[in-house]
Amino acid sequence: MNITRIPTAPIAGMKPGTSGLRKKVTEFAQGHYLANFVQSVFDAVQPPTGFGGLTLVVGGDGRYWNLEAIQRVIRIAAANGFARVLVGQGGILSTPAASCVIRQHGAFGGLILSASHNPGGPDGDFGIKFNAANGGPAPEKVTDAIYAKTLAIGEILTVESADVDLGRIGTQAVGTMKLEVIDAVADYVELMRKLFDFAALRALFAGGFRLSFDAMHAVTGPYAKAIFERELGAPSGTVVNGTPLPDFGGGHPDPNLVHAKELLDRMMAADAPELGAASDGDGDRNLIIGRGIFIPPSDSLAMLAANAHHAPAYAKGIAGVARSMPTSGAVDRVAAKRGVPCFETPTGWKFFGNLLDAGRITLCGEESAGTGSNHVREKDGVWAVLLWLSILAARQQSVQQIAREHWATYGRNYYTRHDYEDLDTPIAKALTQAVADRLPTLAGQTLAGRRVALADDFSYTDPVDGSVSKNQGLRIVFDDGSRIVYRLSGTGTTGSTLRVYIERYEGEPSRHAQDTQDALADLIALADELAQIRARTGRQQPDVVT
Ligand code: G1P
Ligand code: ZN
Repeated sequence: MNITRIPTAPIAGMKPGTSGLRKKVTEFAQGHYLANFVQSVFDAVQPPTGFGGLTLVVGGDGRYWNLEAIQRVIRIAAANGFARVLVGQGGILSTPAASCVIRQHGAFGGLILSASHNPGGPDGDFGIKFNAANGGPAPEKVTDAIYAKTLAIGEILTVESADVDLGRIGTQAVGTMKLEVIDAVADYVELMRKLFDFAALRALFAGGFRLSFDAMHAVTGPYAKAIFERELGAPSGTVVNGTPLPDFGGGHPDPNLVHAKELLDRMMAADAPELGAASDGDGDRNLIIGRGIFIPPSDSLAMLAANAHHAPAYAKGIAGVARSMPTSGAVDRVAAKRGVPCFETPTGWKFFGNLLDAGRITLCGEESAGTGSNHVREKDGVWAVLLWLSILAARQQSVQQIAREHWATYGRNYYTRHDYEDLDTPIAKALTQAVADRLPTLAGQTLAGRRVALADDFSYTDPVDGSVSKNQGLRIVFDDGSRIVYRLSGTGTTGSTLRVYIERYEGEPSRHAQDTQDALADLIALADELAQIRARTGRQQPDVVT
């Protein structure tokens, strides 16, 4: 095999502490930008004995430039000595499916090409990250090593070879490396069949149950059609926007109430289906809406934890749960009642990996529409819908009834997230710095009629390996359990995004208000006052309210 060594210079752009690289397509497509990153990953993770005998999984969410990027990755993998690369047919693998394939085939790891819920197309975003052998995003010590390599790289190894045919399932050769194009959906469907009672779900649909799943023209279309329509017998049309498009049909594949408005409207109509759901660009997020009722992701996590035993995989109970720090405390109450531990981790799925690997938790989730379990090491949108379906099939109640009973049993955590997008970075940094500077003076003060119990910059010590992650969000916790949290997004590609998370617990069902923003009005006002958001940013209201 003829290996070409291309001299190159270090690249800028990987944010330390993040699991990959996310940039505009235009930036990725320039020169050796992508190749630099891929080579940096290989330099950082290469075992002393090299990649001989090892398998790499490659797949993406089908966005613009996916195919071109995969061809480049394959050549670099061949030159770096991998024995085998597995690629999803058509270059497609949802993020949870990639995690599943890595685990199922005992791969060394995988490269996932996606910018998740960010828009795609020639002017949109692109991304790539490395997942380890457990199927999960590389832990911080690995991403730190990759980052260091991106700053020191001197050459890229590649081979001269024609493009491989990604449409044809089967084995091809790239130099001495075996390239296997696999069915992008099969392994994942097989795993779902093991976790859930497909016969019971088939009976649910046979009884006339209606689901509307919005794939947002992103990667979950083929998975959702295979599972909901073909395996479970839901009528065709259950999956809408089910064909993955390079630009997601011009939409923004983020399953929130703004971008999935079409679904929201359908679910609020008089003839709405029983369950509505959507997933994002790469298939790891989920939005759950029952007929006439939106279930906030933090509540969905709590409801799934309280009812997981209705699915065979979790029938024996759950070992524990985890949530990211800004996620509401609703799941904590379920864990307390069940007598299982509840872990609070920093934002980002990678922090759940150690807890899942060690068997300390079974379910985990984030307020940003991510829920998952120990079946893979990524959050999983289609899985979340299957678990909801299992619960609805077993309980024979509506989503609305399940939610009401849940809140009556555990109380309700009113919760909202306000996003201020694309702020000038210096302004956003000054704002959070000013709040950070005030934190030490806040403890013990009474604000909006509540005493501040804790005000700090969240720091996490991993209970499994003892590693410490600092500066994970500014939080002000009140003695009644209410909270205000400020953090800057780590995933945006333009400017800075400020996220403000606001929460209040209401234990008394008779006092459950209807509107979340009303229920949180005093804390929302306080959040602005403490951080001077309007004054500092000039914005009168957030861009997105969830
Ligand atoms: C966002 C979400 C976070 C999630 C991440 C990746 O990150 O808030 O929960 O893990 O996307 O999907 P952020 O932009 O807030 O850093
Ligand atoms: Zn995603």
